[in-house]
Amino acid sequence: MSDTGRDLERAAGFLQEARSVVVSTGAGMSKESGIPTFRDAPNALWEKFDPAKLASEEGFLADPPLVWQWYEERRRMISTAEPNPGHRAIARLEPHFENFTLVTQNIDDLHRKAGSRNIVEMHGNIFRYKCFNLHHPIDTLPQDERVPPRCRCGSLIRPDVVWFGELLPEQAVERAYTALRKCDVMLVVGTSGVVYPVAGFPEVARAHGARIVEINPESTAITRVAHIFLEGPAGGVLPELVDAFLKRKAA
Ligand code: OAD
Repeated sequence: MSDTGRDLERAAGFLQEARSVVVSTGAGMSKESGIPTFRDAPNALWEKFDPAKLASEEGFLADPPLVWQWYEERRRMISTAEPNPGHRAIARLEPHFENFTLVTQNIDDLHRKAGSRNIVEMHGNIFRYKCFNLHHPIDTLPQDERVPPRCRCGSLIRPDVVWFGELLPEQAVERAYTALRKCDVMLVVGTSGVVYPVAGFPEVARAHGARIVEINPESTAITRVAHIFLEGPAGGVLPELVDAFLKRKAA
C-alpha cells in the first residue's frame, strides 16, 4: 500500500472510532463546483477588485448599487453551481455519528444542496438578506425599483454575509466552539487557514483531544496542526475516505 493509501486508511480508522465529528470547509471545497477560491492564482476572486471596497460596511455605504450588483452577479454565478462529489461525501458521512457538525466558511449553500443537515455557516449565506441598520433577516425581497431595495424600516437591504471588519454571527461561533470542544475527529477541507477565528479551530479541537485530518492539494497553515495530511482535491479524496470508512463499518 502507498503512503497515501496508508494515511487514508488511518484517517478512516479515526472516523471508525469517533462518536463526534466536525468537518470544517473553506473555498477549496467548492472549487470543483466551478467557484473560484479567494487566494488561488490565477483565478483569485479578490484579484479583480479591492475587497475592502466592496465587501465592507464602508464600501457598501460608499456605493450601495455597485456592491449590490456585484453580489447579484456572484449570486447568479453561484446559483448555477452544483455540489461536487466532495460535498456529497460529507453528506453521506453525517448520519453515521452521534454528533456531526459541519462548519463552513463558504456562503454558497452547496452543502445544503448536497444534503448536509447540521451546518454552521460562519460567514453567512449569499442567498439570504438582512436589514443594514437593524440586522434582522429579510425573507422576501420587497418589490422595489431601487438598487439596493429598501427594508420596511427605510434602511438599505444587504446580503447576509460577513464583511471585512465585522464580527462573526454569535450563534454560529457558539455552536462551532461547542462542537469543537467535544469532537473526536475534525476534518479540515479546502481552506488556507489564514482567516481567523475559523483558522484557529483545528488548534482548539486538538487541544480538546481531537484527531485532525486535513484535505487539501497543498500544505497550508493548518498542516502543522494536523495528525494526517491527505494531499489532493476534496472531490477526489473525500469520496475515497468515506468509502474506506463505510467499508470498515460494514466489515
Ligand atoms: P482560500 O482561497 O484562502 O483557500 C483555498 C484553499 O483551498 C487553499 O488552501 C487551496 O490549496 C485549497 N484548494 C484548492 N483547490 C482545492 C480542491 N479542489 N480541494 C480542496 N482544497 C482545494 O479560501 P478560504 O481559506 O476558504 O472570508 O478563505 C477564508 C476566508 O477568506 C473566506 O471565507 C472569505 C475570505 O476572506 C469572508 O468572506 C469573510
